[in-house]
Amino acid sequence: MLSTEEFFNSRAIKYNRLSNWTKFKELLNLSLEMINNIKGKVIVDLGVGTAFLLQQLKTFKIRIGVDISLNMLIEINDDNIYKVKANICEIPFLPVSIDIAICRQVLHYTDPKRVFSEIRRILRPGGYVHIVQITGYENIPRTWYNTWAKIRGVEGRRMFFKSDLLRLFSKSGFDVLKENEIELLFVNKWDEFYERENVTYEKRLEVKNFFMNAEPLFGKALKLKINNDSISFSHKFSFFLLRISN
Ligand SMILES: C[S@@+](CC[C@H](N)C(=O)[O-])C[C@H]1O[C@@H](n2cnc3c(N)ncnc32)[C@H](O)[C@@H]1O
Repeated sequence: MLSTEEFFNSRAIKYNRLSNWTKFKELLNLSLEMINNIKGKVIVDLGVGTAFLLQQLKTFKIRIGVDISLNMLIEINDDNIYKVKANICEIPFLPVSIDIAICRQVLHYTDPKRVFSEIRRILRPGGYVHIVQITGYENIPRTWYNTWAKIRGVEGRRMFFKSDLLRLFSKSGFDVLKENEIELLFVNKWDEFYERENVTYEKRLEVKNFFMNAEPLFGKALKLKINNDSISFSHKFSFFLLRISN
């Protein structure tokens, strides 16, 4: 098992090629729709990765990307973004210093309660949070997702359901102002899929069998299609705009 930091350090130079979803227009447009009207000076992207989303948000005067992986920060090709190497469970910022925090497809590597308590601490009164997260289909059990996550060899990685996130937001003292979701089909040749999902050579057969033997009900929810050349299934991205509850 690799720690999150080790995994992303080793993946950084191939991240943009392998995780091409980061640049999908449909995802960008839904984020822009949610946050376009927000005014403020300071935006922080928690788990910024290679900063595709933050690079589009030029109206904020100060843009900061925080990431646990130094190599991911090195891949950011934008000198106007401040880069901070830190764990988002312990954000090295002063209290009430940020107008908006965004966090896209990161919470499943973290202790989300700690992340939200940090977000609460660093946000200015009236500040916003934008979360984008792949969430599980409700009719597929958590155990199936967790088995799949375990095969991919990154410590602690797991799947959240939308209901988990809504509970987290409410318990952390945030109101949901807006929410949305979109399903996108990921289609991959098997070799690309194994590389993208960090499946080692030894685990390839296990993974193929895992998907071939998925219960028909799960396959239906995922729109799973498998043949000798490729595998495709859909991912549900959930979008939220939050604000600290009064
Ligand atoms: C799937 S990538 C998403 C990157 C980016 N948000 C995007 O939308 O393209 C997850 C990122 O979160 C970072 N990350 C994971 N856990 C973290 C933590 N506890 N603290 C800071 N960064 C973390 C990883 O290093 C990686 O860059």
